[in-house]
Amino acid sequence: MSYTTALHGGATDDILKSLHKQFTIDDQTLFKITTTFLSEISDGLSSYGRAMAMMHVSPTFLSYAIPTFVKGVPDGSETGTFLALDLGGTNLRVCEVTLQGDQTFSLRQQKYKVSEALKTGEVTTLFDYLADSVDAFLTESSTPSKEPSSLIGSDPYAASNQDTPYLPLALTFSFPVEQSALDSGVLLTWTKGFSAKNAVGKDVVKLLQDAFDRKHIHVKCVALVNDTVGALLSRAYTSGGCILGAIFGTGTNGAYVEEVSKITKLGNSAAAAAGGDMIVNTEWGAFNNSRSALPTTPYDNKVDRESINPRFQAFEKFISGMYLGEIARNVILSMIDAAPKPILFGGRSSDQLNKQWGLDTALLSEIEEAWEGLGRFSLSPGSVEVTELEKLRRIQGVLVKRLELSPPDISLADADIVRQACTLIASRAARLSATAVAAILVHTGRARLWDQGEQSSAGLKDEGKRIGVGVDGSLVEFYPNFQTKLRASLRMLVGPEVESRVDIGMAKDGSGVGAALCALVAQRQSQAARTDGANAYNYEETTIRGRTEVAYLSSLS
Ligand code: BGC
Repeated sequence: MSYTTALHGGATDDILKSLHKQFTIDDQTLFKITTTFLSEISDGLSSYGRAMAMMHVSPTFLSYAIPTFVKGVPDGSETGTFLALDLGGTNLRVCEVTLQGDQTFSLRQQKYKVSEALKTGEVTTLFDYLADSVDAFLTESSTPSKEPSSLIGSDPYAASNQDTPYLPLALTFSFPVEQSALDSGVLLTWTKGFSAKNAVGKDVVKLLQDAFDRKHIHVKCVALVNDTVGALLSRAYTSGGCILGAIFGTGTNGAYVEEVSKITKLGNSAAAAAGGDMIVNTEWGAFNNSRSALPTTPYDNKVDRESINPRFQAFEKFISGMYLGEIARNVILSMIDAAPKPILFGGRSSDQLNKQWGLDTALLSEIEEAWEGLGRFSLSPGSVEVTELEKLRRIQGVLVKRLELSPPDISLADADIVRQACTLIASRAARLSATAVAAILVHTGRARLWDQGEQSSAGLKDEGKRIGVGVDGSLVEFYPNFQTKLRASLRMLVGPEVESRVDIGMAKDGSGVGAALCALVAQRQSQAARTDGANAYNYEETTIRGRTEVAYLSSLS
């Protein structure tokens, strides 16, 4: 019997067994979830009605797959200095990105806090704040490292009746937006705790532009991009190729390169006629809102019910950093309150634990680091392996500090129960994340599901080649073993041969670099329009020439 097993008995043992049962997703269920994923992607590609249904109809009928009007991917040879504004994660960021043209870039950035009042107040107040932040960034950096390359005299972006140049900016806006062109898109719904009023149904580029104009700030928003698209573009830029950009952070989502002919909902539009490839934003955080495939626990139901968007973003609520801490808080509270006898902390709680969102996912991460000997708990070379007893003592220390509990209330058994709960919640998130990646690989013809036993790789797209996946977000970057667990489940789903060819790499600063790449294309598109006349728009002339593929953007008109 291991040290930790000996700590528990009776009721605690039963509770732990029940937790394991509820949070462990077996392989067959994982296959079923991936299959459901595949069918929801197809639904999303064929019908706008489904995505738009969100605003009016039951979320059960919701499927996304949003065409982004970003065609193809860069190859690292692109150059220029661009301004980007990034809203959607924990902070708001303004950055100036310089693409060096040799797969490298430099970036100057400033982060600004977005208060709860801004997230939940009037949308114009939020966008005024965005505009002010850009203004502050430009003022603070009045001697920019380089003049943004697009700020060249009288600009095509400038209002027709004035010569003052406008500085072009790309907006990374990481919420579900139905794009109708590179520089316009309507917000379908808020996610990740945002709920600013009078925003849903509005064009977010216009909201930002109006704020700039109200404040006489000479900046023009020329491109709108989701952070997943940014991750895909930036990973392609730095590594030379990428087919999927995915975020596993505060929220979760993925964007992949799709054949335009498969996006049947584009109908007879110019974008459809142009053919080729286009990046699709899946908004997979909304996958399986009906929860027909996702095995839901009472703790998940509670998190969902008390969230600002009950019954929406189902997948995201199982996976992302915004929610894992809250799921853990609910699990912990249920054990503090257990009858007839408390299971945890002698029945004592703390203000931190009693408050909704009081437990941050970073705490789960720290507890796992304490157990695994990672992060600040890493062993220095040559030191002796730490015993389980010492690891549990570290966890006790973390709980005292972060949850404001008093030391005598936390037994070693308590520390171990909390540790097991954290591992279960995070492992489930990593396994579910693998279903999303597997579904994209299968959907794009790069993998087959191994649910019927071993499958051959013969005839697969990109057979034998590396498959680039750009990822970003706090979970995938910092959470102990998240990526290892995701990979293990991916291997189970698509087989070791395909999995070994998947290059999962960080798309660091993807939101900034990806936005810069979009601004670059918008600039070329605008220059081409100037040359050829807006109505005789020539796709070829606005192509960013790349080694592997061409990247260009089209406007749907
Ligand atoms: C949003 C996505 C975004 C993801 C990651 C989700 O909540 O709906 O648009 O890409 O979070 O930031």
